[in-house]
Amino acid sequence: MNRATATAHSNIALAKYWGKADRELNLPAVPSLSMTLDAMSTTTTVVFDDAFESDVVVLNGHEALGSARQRVCAVLDRVRQLAGRRQYASVSSSNNFPTAAGLASSASGFAALALAARAAAGLPDDPHAASSMARQASASAARSVFGGYVALDLGAHSARKVVGALHFPLSLVVAVTREGAKETGSTDGMEHTRATSPYYASWVASAPPICDQVEQAIVSRDLERLGPLVEHSALLMHASMLGANPAITYFSPASIAAIEAVKKLRQAGTLAYFTMDAGPHVKVICTPADTTRVAATLRSTPGVLRTIECKLGPDATVTREGGVES
Ligand code: PMV
Repeated sequence: MNRATATAHSNIALAKYWGKADRELNLPAVPSLSMTLDAMSTTTTVVFDDAFESDVVVLNGHEALGSARQRVCAVLDRVRQLAGRRQYASVSSSNNFPTAAGLASSASGFAALALAARAAAGLPDDPHAASSMARQASASAARSVFGGYVALDLGAHSARKVVGALHFPLSLVVAVTREGAKETGSTDGMEHTRATSPYYASWVASAPPICDQVEQAIVSRDLERLGPLVEHSALLMHASMLGANPAITYFSPASIAAIEAVKKLRQAGTLAYFTMDAGPHVKVICTPADTTRVAATLRSTPGVLRTIECKLGPDATVTREGGVES
């Protein structure tokens, strides 16, 4: 087949990844563990054709150029090499949520691309191979190949499903605090943190035991144990960035206000816990029964523009294949 479409869902790390052990292979310096989200997805179609004279990449209706195109072409080059093909490809990809605002569009994007490109080139359906390929473009993308709770272990080339969505059905509410692109991309931010932050080494040393405990709390379905670990992981990651010189700060006044709102919810007896990534949005985990209340509280917080309510999402899938065998 020379055409395939795949859908992958975004993910939010509960135990964070920040820093690379190997930049060439794009292997993380710390293990991470995430939940895949049902409400945020990317759908990507890849077509290989003899008639194409170059790779054409269209993201959300606009042709991608420069480094955004280059990152996609690097995945296509790997697929061509593995499949022994020379044809150029057209790639068309769309997200159902804002791109590059710290909402992990690269995670679902590169997971969908790896799956669609492999299927379009006739490579075998192998989620771990697709996860490894996605990881080389964006390490968090390795995790978006699988649904439920997913780990990317230290030194691993592909992600591992920890447990499925039904094992521990939590919700996650995103408090969107800004529309539009983030200032510092994750790769540059990680490299700057590694090179200049005196706290980077302690972050790398403290992350593995936290990730282990996050996994245990999920396996034992214990939100009261999980929540504090999730907040600790996020704040240790941000502390390593604050120690960089100059500092990397993703917090906005609205982020701080949302964090305070979560603490107040907790004081009033609601099990809600926050996390934050490379952007000013605050993501809050809670039980499905508390989702509406948590979302309403966040929406009434100054600076929160809107909320996105998510449940756990499924495995990435190839949804459509077609075209001629070549
Ligand atoms: O995979 P990248 O390069 O987009 O980095 C992701 C980094 C964080 O989102 C901040 C943390 C994580 O583990 O997803």
